[in-house]
Amino acid sequence: MARLDPHSYADTTQPQTRSIELSLKVDFASRTLSGEAVLRFRQAGAGPLDLDTRDLRIESVTDLDSAKLGYELAAPEPILGSRLRIELPAAARGVRIRYSTSPSATALQWLEPSQTSGGKPFLYSQCQPIHARSLAPLQDTPRIRITVDRARFEVPPGLRALMAAAQVGANEFAMPQPIPSYLLAFAVGDLEQRPISPRCAVWAEPALADEAAAEFAGVEQMLACAEKLFGPYEWERSDILVMPPSFPYGGMENPRLTFVTPSLLAGDKSLVNVIAHELAHAWTGNLVTNASANDFWLNEGFTVYAERRILEALSGREAAELHAAIGRHELMVALRRFEKRPELTRLRTDLSGVDPDEAYSTVPYEKGYLLLRKLEEMSGRARWDAFLKSYLAKFRFQSITTQDFLDLLEPELRDEALRYVDAPGLPDDAPQPQAQRIVEPKNPTELLVYLQSMEPDRAKLAELDQRHGLSQRKSLELRQAFVLLQLRAGLPEGIEGARRVLRETGRMKYLRPLFTELARRDRAAARRIFEEVRGGYHNIARAVIEGLLREG
Ligand code: BES
Ligand code: ZN
Repeated sequence: MARLDPHSYADTTQPQTRSIELSLKVDFASRTLSGEAVLRFRQAGAGPLDLDTRDLRIESVTDLDSAKLGYELAAPEPILGSRLRIELPAAARGVRIRYSTSPSATALQWLEPSQTSGGKPFLYSQCQPIHARSLAPLQDTPRIRITVDRARFEVPPGLRALMAAAQVGANEFAMPQPIPSYLLAFAVGDLEQRPISPRCAVWAEPALADEAAAEFAGVEQMLACAEKLFGPYEWERSDILVMPPSFPYGGMENPRLTFVTPSLLAGDKSLVNVIAHELAHAWTGNLVTNASANDFWLNEGFTVYAERRILEALSGREAAELHAAIGRHELMVALRRFEKRPELTRLRTDLSGVDPDEAYSTVPYEKGYLLLRKLEEMSGRARWDAFLKSYLAKFRFQSITTQDFLDLLEPELRDEALRYVDAPGLPDDAPQPQAQRIVEPKNPTELLVYLQSMEPDRAKLAELDQRHGLSQRKSLELRQAFVLLQLRAGLPEGIEGARRVLRETGRMKYLRPLFTELARRDRAAARRIFEEVRGGYHNIARAVIEGLLREG
C-alpha cells in the first residue's frame, strides 16, 4: 500500500486514472446530480482499486465492457469520506460507475431563485481542496492528473452549463490538458457572455454582465503581462465567471474559467489584484501543483508572489508594495490566531488527520510570499527570474513537494528557505514591504492600509466616515475593514454594519474576522446574525463559522 496524500485513499501502487468522462443530469428539485462517471487508466491493471467518495450513492460498477464488478463502499471517515474499493479483473483498462450525489454534497451549492440576481436557480461547484469526491468517485489527490474526455450536463430549460474546460457542444465539454481533480469545476445558471478579447470573456447573470465586463476589461492586458513574466499561457482561453454572493472565496483559479465573487464588482477596479492572482495560478498551481495539502504554500505563496509581480509591471512598484504591506499585516494577525497551533504556521505542514478547510489561512500565502521575495532579494532579480522560468519549465503539468522545490535551489538559498519551510512563525529578518506612511489616503488600497494600521478611535472613525463614506461603500473590502474598527471601538452601529456585510456576501475572508469580532463583543448577537444569514452561505463557510462560534 502506498498512500502518499494524507487526504486521499488513492494508492499509487494501483492503476492511476488518466482520463474521465462524466454524464450528469442536474436536478434542482431533488438537489442531486445523477448519471455516470467513466475512469480510464494510464495502464491496464488488476486487483483492488481505491477511490475517494463522499456522500455518493453508488448504483453499479462495471468494467468498460459493461461486465459487473464487485465493490465495497466503506463507512465514512469524517475528513476523508468513504473509500470505494472496486475489484478489478485482469487487465482492466477502466471502470464505469453509475451513481448520484447527495443534496448535501460538500462541493455543490444549490441556490434558490431568491439567492441570485436574476431570480433563476443556480448551481456551482467548488472542489478545492478535497470536495471533488462528493461530485464523482475518483482519485481525489492532486498527485494524479486527469484529462476530461467528455463532460455532458443535462440541465433544465432556460439554464446553461459552463465548465472550466473547452466547450465542445451545447452543455458538453472536454479538457485536453491534464489537471488535478480539485480543478474540476462547473456552474449552471442563467448566464450571459461579454467578450473582452479573442481569448477572454466575462460570464455573469444578465443583470450583472455589463458591469462585470467593465470591471474586468483589463484581463487580456494582464494575461499578456503574465506571459512576459512566466512564459506562454498553456490553457487557450481565460474567461471569468461572476458567481452568486454566497461564493466562499474571492476567486478560484478553475482552468480556462476563473470563478470570482461578485464583491469584486466594487466599481473602482480596486480589486484587480484578485484577478491577477487567479490568472497567475495558470502557471503557479495549475501548471505546477502541490502534491498534497502539506505543500499548499507552493500553490499560494508562489501565486501571491506572481500576482504582485504582475501588479508591479502594470501599476508600478508602489502599488505592489501597498498590497505586500497589507499582506504582511494579515500574516501577523494570523500568526497570533495560531499561537496555540504553531505547527500550522510552517510552510511545509503535516495535515494528516486535519481537515484542510480548517487549516486554511493566510500563512501559506503571505509567509510563502515573503520567503520568495527574500530569495529574490538574495539572488538579484535577473537570476531569480531565470530560476522561476526554469522551475516552471521543469515541473510543468506535474505535482510536486516542497522538497522538489528545495532540491532545485542553490545551497545558500536552500538554507534560507529552510528557515521558513520547517520553522513556525516568521524570521525576524523577513522582508518588510515599504509602503510609505500614508498621511492622506487617496485611493481605495491606501485607505485600506490606513484603516489596518489605525487604532479604533471613535472620533477619528466618525471623521473618516464623513470624508470617505466608508460605512456606505459598495466595496466590501473597505466597508468590512471599517465595520471591524467600529466593533473594536465598541460602537453599537458596528453590529448593524456587520449584519449588513454578512447578509451581502458569503466570502469567508469577510465573514471570519467579522464573526470573530462580533462574538468577542456580543456572542448572542453573533449567533442571532448567523442564524439569520446562514441560509445564504456555502457549506464550507457554514462549517467554518459554526466552529468559530463554538470556540471560546
Ligand atoms: N485557490 C484559492 C482559493 C481556495 C483555496 C479555495 C483553498 C479552496 C481552498 C484562490 O486562488 C485564492 O487564493 N483566492 C484568494 C484570492 C486572494 C489571495 C487574492 C481569496 O479567495 O481570497
Ligand atoms: Zn490562490
